[in-house]
Amino acid sequence: MTRGKFITFEGGEGSGKSTQVALLAERLRAAGLGIVVTREPGGTPLGEGIRSLVLDAAPEPTTELLLFAAARAEHVAKVIRPALDHGTWVVCDRFMDSTRVYQGLLGGAPGDLIGALEIRTIAPTYPDLTLVLDLPAEAGLKRTEARGALSRFDAESTDYHKRLQDGFLAIARAEPARCAVIDADRSAEDVAADIWSTVKSRLLGGVR
Ligand code: TYD
Repeated sequence: MTRGKFITFEGGEGSGKSTQVALLAERLRAAGLGIVVTREPGGTPLGEGIRSLVLDAAPEPTTELLLFAAARAEHVAKVIRPALDHGTWVVCDRFMDSTRVYQGLLGGAPGDLIGALEIRTIAPTYPDLTLVLDLPAEAGLKRTEARGALSRFDAESTDYHKRLQDGFLAIARAEPARCAVIDADRSAEDVAADIWSTVKSRLLGGVR
């Protein structure tokens, strides 16, 4: 059986990830593929429990890193890897790059610890394609403010959001074979069309 493909979405707050995850899943289903749509933190009952712990409380940075890693270990072992092995495609809203950027770049967690946790929790189930939604920090903040209910991460300064965005773009530059940067400062339809042509050319051999 052909292994499914693993697609992750990354980007700053208000970049429209959730909308685009849903639109891509719809298109993949319409193309006849089996799809699992999931998110991090979360994706398993234990992971969803960790999600509410981490997002509501503000744990000490090392605690936070380990909780995200624990949720990811469950998610990869129980949901993502089995689905891919069965030929199902997996579309995940945030994954390892969020840890690198939020806990690493912005939270100061050491890169060697993050790297070791990645190997332990993910290898060899790395994303086949990571779509980095690129939206200027100011525009993203406007969107999250308009949406109301700010998360603990949303409520940070513009400078924080700019560093966040730069962090994701730096990862995309460093790993161009895995990552594609998508200009998210456009209508949802235009962004979705760009994502679909990227997925077709990178993962579907340009067909369909
Ligand atoms: P969520 O409400 O899903 O935010 P968004 O809509 O922006 O994706 O909350 C997820 C938050 O968790 C988000 O602010 C980023 C943060 N996060 C980390 O800090 N590290 C991680 O590894 C992951 C997966 C998420």
